[in-house]
Amino acid sequence: MRLTVIGTGYLGATHAACMAELGHEVLGVDVDPDKVAALQAGRVPFHEPGLPELIARHTASGRLRFTTDYAEAGAFGDVHFVCVGTPQLKGSEGADLTYVDSAFAAVAEHAAPGALVVGKSTVPVGTAGRLARAHGRVEVAWNPEFLREGFAVEDTLRPDRLVFGVRSERAETILREVYASVLAAGTPLVAADFPTAELVKTAANAFLATKISFINAMAELCEAAGGDVGVLAEAIGHDDRIGRKFLRAGVGFGGGCLPKDIRAFAHRADELGVSLAFLREVDAINMRRRDKVVELARELCGGSVLGARIAVLGAAFKPDSDDIRDSPALNVAARLRLDGADVTVYDPEAMDNARKAFPLLGYALSAEEALGGADLVLHLTEWPQFREIDPERARSLVSRPRIVDGRGVLDADRWTAAGWRFWALGRPAPVGEGPR
Ligand code: UDX
Repeated sequence: MRLTVIGTGYLGATHAACMAELGHEVLGVDVDPDKVAALQAGRVPFHEPGLPELIARHTASGRLRFTTDYAEAGAFGDVHFVCVGTPQLKGSEGADLTYVDSAFAAVAEHAAPGALVVGKSTVPVGTAGRLARAHGRVEVAWNPEFLREGFAVEDTLRPDRLVFGVRSERAETILREVYASVLAAGTPLVAADFPTAELVKTAANAFLATKISFINAMAELCEAAGGDVGVLAEAIGHDDRIGRKFLRAGVGFGGGCLPKDIRAFAHRADELGVSLAFLREVDAINMRRRDKVVELARELCGGSVLGARIAVLGAAFKPDSDDIRDSPALNVAARLRLDGADVTVYDPEAMDNARKAFPLLGYALSAEEALGGADLVLHLTEWPQFREIDPERARSLVSRPRIVDGRGVLDADRWTAAGWRFWALGRPAPVGEGPR
């Protein structure tokens, strides 16, 4: 089939490359000529395992091309996928639909009459219906994506499920054809009406965020009562109605999706006269974990971080990503810097992005360099590399061997045995130590 993909950011570039991998002829469209030129040359402007190879392979074969020209896209595609961003509005919890609205308007103007225009962006419920009313020349469908950064290619080619929001059998048939090989591999398909399809995405993200904040609230309780949230999470996770995934307590969630999506969801629910106030608490618990690390650093530095050398391991909002959007690690690092600490950050992939966004922080070329002379080490993004740091060697680099594990994945016994004072969120403080 001939598909266009409107918007070649994170979602769009991945979708375009994966659709080419499924055997379709794909034209990616973006208003940004630099992005289009880079992708056309096989360069991916962000870190995503496996994606550069796919883009290079299919741009070389000619099955995947990129353009800035909507008229060309309209003439090219049988099906048009809209993959533009829906960021948080400035000064409001709501989602900014400017890009979605303008992409639909542009496709509807140029596409063949009756062409299928499929939204993939995460939108407030009601958007698909509104767009269908506004653009009667084309047929609208909604097909939310659930990809995780770092696993975007895998999640697109082998998703847990496909969700089609459709208003006609024709739309469902066309989408089944687009995803024929994915469906043939046994992927479950949920066909739904527009509102349900839109809600599946926001409900899934709200559930995941709630799970993380639930365990982080338990971490707060463990800190107050002297328990161990790691053991607690393992024990409740053995109940398979609860499950063990997404119960890792720590400095909380960040990134371009979960934080903004739960805000937009609560906001949209308010508009519909339904309260999702608990999601505001989910957000608040998440933010309090960042505060906790800042406070802990302050206490460990004797009441003030002024002049203290603090090494921050991690800048990306999660491992296997160079994405620093709403990163808990950088939020904590920047606040400590504002309080007068001498902060040095190291991240395996996100250094360029971090440097641009936070030019006042110090940056090291390696974890070892970041540790050099540190009074305190904060482990804030759980890159596998950081788990492999040898505590003995690390001890010889720092000025004072004290570490806070903000992700709950380091081996406390190993670090303690190597002479470190080791704190982890939601876990007992080292024996004989005050601050928790
Ligand atoms: C998320 C959803 O998982 C995905 O389905 C949706 O399409 C987009 O949003 P992503 O933002 O890529 O994907 O990240 P994810 O892997 O879900 O992690 C989100 C955040 O939660 C990260 O900051 C991560 O460090 C944190 N997290 C995750 C925890 O703090 N504890 C956990 O147990 C799991």
